[in-house]
Amino acid sequence: MGEGGSTTLLTFSLFCFTTFLSTLSLSTDTLTTSQLLTTNQTLSSRNAIFQLGFFSSTNSTWYLAIWYKTTHDEDGDKTVVWVANRDTPLENPTGFLKISNQGNLVIIDQSQKPLWSSNQTTTNENPVLQLLDSGNLVLREANENDPTKFLWQSFDYPTDTLLPGMKLGWNLDTGSEKHITSWRVTNQDPSSGDFSFKLDYRGLPEIFLYNKGERIYRSGPWNGERFSGVPEMQPVTDSIKFTFFVDQHEVYYTFSIGNQSLFSRLCVSSVGELQRLTWIQSTQAWNKFWYAPKDQCDIYKECGPYGICDTNASPVCQCVRGFRPKNPQAWNLRDGSDGCVRNTELECGSDRFLHMRNVKLPETTSVFVNRSMDLTECGDLCHGNCSCTAYANIEITNGGTGCVIWVSELLDIRQYPAGGQDLYVRLAASDVDDIGFEGVSDKANNTAKVVGIIVCAAAFILLVLGICILWKKRKLQWILKGKSEHRGFPERSQDLLMNEVVFSSNREQSSERNLDDLELPLFDFNTITVATNNFSEEHKLGQGGFGSVYKGRLMEGQDIAVKRLSKNSGQGIEEFKNEVKLIVKLQHRNLVRLLGCSIQMDEKMLVYEYMENRSLDAILFDKAKRSSLDWKRRFNIICGIARGLLYLHHDSRFRIIHRDLKASNILLDREMNPKISDFGMARIFGTDQTEANTMRVVGTYGYMSPEYAMDGIFSVKSDVFSFGVLVLEIISGKKNRGFYSVNKELNLLGHAWKLWKEENALELIDSSIDNSYSPSEVHRCIQVGLLCVQERAEDRPTMSSVVLMLSSDTASMPQPKNPGFCLGRNPTETDSSSSKQDESFTVNQVTVTMLDAR
Ligand SMILES: *[C@@H]1O[C@H](CO)[C@@H](O)[C@H](O)[C@H]1NC(C)=O
Ligand SMILES: *[C@@H]1O[C@H](CO)[C@@H](O)[C@H](O)[C@H]1NC(C)=O
Ligand SMILES: *[C@@H]1O[C@H](CO)[C@@H](O)[C@H](O)[C@H]1NC(C)=O
Ligand SMILES: *[C@@H]1O[C@H](CO)[C@@H](O)[C@H](O)[C@H]1NC(C)=O
Ligand SMILES: *[C@@H]1O[C@H](CO)[C@@H](O)[C@H](O)[C@H]1NC(C)=O
Ligand SMILES: *[C@@H]1O[C@H](CO)[C@@H](O)[C@H](O)[C@H]1NC(C)=O
Repeated sequence: MGEGGSTTLLTFSLFCFTTFLSTLSLSTDTLTTSQLLTTNQTLSSRNAIFQLGFFSSTNSTWYLAIWYKTTHDEDGDKTVVWVANRDTPLENPTGFLKISNQGNLVIIDQSQKPLWSSNQTTTNENPVLQLLDSGNLVLREANENDPTKFLWQSFDYPTDTLLPGMKLGWNLDTGSEKHITSWRVTNQDPSSGDFSFKLDYRGLPEIFLYNKGERIYRSGPWNGERFSGVPEMQPVTDSIKFTFFVDQHEVYYTFSIGNQSLFSRLCVSSVGELQRLTWIQSTQAWNKFWYAPKDQCDIYKECGPYGICDTNASPVCQCVRGFRPKNPQAWNLRDGSDGCVRNTELECGSDRFLHMRNVKLPETTSVFVNRSMDLTECGDLCHGNCSCTAYANIEITNGGTGCVIWVSELLDIRQYPAGGQDLYVRLAASDVDDIGFEGVSDKANNTAKVVGIIVCAAAFILLVLGICILWKKRKLQWILKGKSEHRGFPERSQDLLMNEVVFSSNREQSSERNLDDLELPLFDFNTITVATNNFSEEHKLGQGGFGSVYKGRLMEGQDIAVKRLSKNSGQGIEEFKNEVKLIVKLQHRNLVRLLGCSIQMDEKMLVYEYMENRSLDAILFDKAKRSSLDWKRRFNIICGIARGLLYLHHDSRFRIIHRDLKASNILLDREMNPKISDFGMARIFGTDQTEANTMRVVGTYGYMSPEYAMDGIFSVKSDVFSFGVLVLEIISGKKNRGFYSVNKELNLLGHAWKLWKEENALELIDSSIDNSYSPSEVHRCIQVGLLCVQERAEDRPTMSSVVLMLSSDTASMPQPKNPGFCLGRNPTETDSSSSKQDESFTVNQVTVTMLDAR
């Protein structure tokens, strides 16, 4: 009570103070009916954690917002967590916030008109507005502190961020719903963007990520400990607690944090990524410790009905056992979206169930749910209803409880190496080959048999163990000790609050540790020799800096491309194998798939899928062929490369910088879809070389960013530079290197930049493209290209912004500054003919040529 009294006194004295000097910043956490909050004033929560005030966007429009008082983002901007008037900004800073006579919270603009209102309807005597330390802005009766009696609270109207204590979900009694929606441009434009994270309460509730109303990712249902589709989420720890609440009145997801000085928030970014960010005191930066969608298998319905997506399989889409691809042609081209169909139709009474382990449960929007049934009852119920296609436990806690039954197609199943759930899928008896299947009929008999077998097996194991212990006691102890040391991640728990990260790094470790257990896709050398007709000249596709490439056909009829690496790559066999194992896991529709490798003595070979249309440069720079690339195709190629590169840069498991992106490394499949090749080759050859060689700059002149060519500094931004060059080449049909213009001083970048400044950018477009292009699209691509090749790496956009800029004609784009290497074409360049496209330069050579140029 004493505390309450003193705050009132404090508030009162501050109140007097501020009414006299209304332009001073309000250092209090409350606003009364007689006060205004102008655009240069703020409220601070009691312990100075959050601040309420106005901020101006890049568009110089003004928004009322709440932000963390002590944190900032990469650019030093405020970490905004809530915006009141996101879609009705103030046009200039003369507006203010006040509590209206009706007790509403209103923002008044310069013409004294209400621009935004909290629209709450209950009238009251003496309302005050208070910013709490939780980040909740509440309107309440002055002497009412009971949270259930608040008149209005910002926590009921989330923007793009879920703070601890905020709920995402439904109040089923009032029909009100809370979800988060991205900003139009993160950190720049807070107006409502395309992406929302929204709970669907039907069936077994799940949360979906939407892009303009279309589902693109789902969390999977809550299984008592975590979401079925987020196996890396750990059970409750001391610091952070995830809650999923379901009853007949309310369904919501929320989380809480034990210690208020730890900041963690969930938000959806303007490029459609769901992120959990945590503030790290020591580095003073927000750390992204979990995000989704992470990979191809997170894409909603990637493998269609009855398909299973498994990132460790090749191809990622597989059919549930007893099913086959519905559209084998598309399936073989790695488009799994049509899904699978049954080999044998169901017969109902005699059907049996396939036990699948460690899966993300199929979509549960239209399922039947009974939380009090156990698995046996659930199986019986499913068996007895002919339209039931699968069943599972709802919760995994207490050995599994509750019953969920699917009565339609099974959508969006995903296989995990660990951490998923059990699912029982109905199959016709004739598709069953007893192993791994659990019949539902004769259950009692079976149970008895199973118990008998388990008892026998356990007795046998004990006996063997006993013998071992007596015989080799010390050795066994050693083995067990070794095992438990390996498992040591719970001890590394100084940041257990980030349970998602702890888990994912643990997973990463365990997957690396288990690399040896994984099957390395190894091709027999003889197979390769036969497939390529003993590496004959007519099978040779080309020669690159790292070796030669051959076309081959396996006995099964699959076409492959074999890259025979030069023997002096300086890398050991083990390192090579480990790299291959990593890269085999990279899977994206815009990356050429590495199928495996072959090792014979010290000779190393990489086996890729074969691309019918070979490489982009062979078409783009060929007078006869390039007219086959109309604008639609070129735009598709640009977007595809951008997506592939985004995947390389942002896949959390191993961020990959390509380092040698160029037209000859873009391969085209039958439909002219682009696939980046040689990704990770830079990594294979770059990072694991001997000391003397690590200074080698690998790459191709004309595509290298200035800081990389000059100083050997490479980052994702050097790939962005190469991407920009590629974009301009695709648009113009001309090579940056070896470009001639009327003005001999300029290379392609300089030429494009000149046209841009003269506002004639569209002149850049290849004359062999007919008039069927959209000028605004071409213009946008040129602008993106120029932004990517800007001289200063920090000015260049990231690939995620590039993808956004390419995909949306409303995204705001900065004006490009001058490109790197714009002037001074190198005189010695002229004689290094374009036939030698693939040579790699060392940093010395490049430095020399650069010096020549000056
Ligand atoms: C704050 O804004 C008010 C009105 O918009 C103005 O009169 C005052 O000078 C400003 N104060 C400061 C410190 O900028
Ligand atoms: C800038 O403001 C105008 C007018 O309010 C709006 O139409 C436009 O979309 C805004 N652009 C950005 C990038 O915020
Ligand atoms: C308040 O109500 C008005 C009129 O119905 C509506 O235009 C406005 O969007 C509402 N404001 C909020 C914040 O919901
Ligand atoms: C909360 O965290 C801070 C900093 O990490 C620490 O100093 C403080 O003791 C913690 N408080 C509690 C109650 O655990
Ligand atoms: C759920 O299952 C229990 C146990 O079998 C049964 O008593 C109850 O009626 C079922 N509830 C519904 C809604 O079907
Ligand atoms: C099977 O289950 C579905 C969903 O609960 C129900 O609509 C249907 O009536 C059931 N069919 C039979 C034959 O029990």
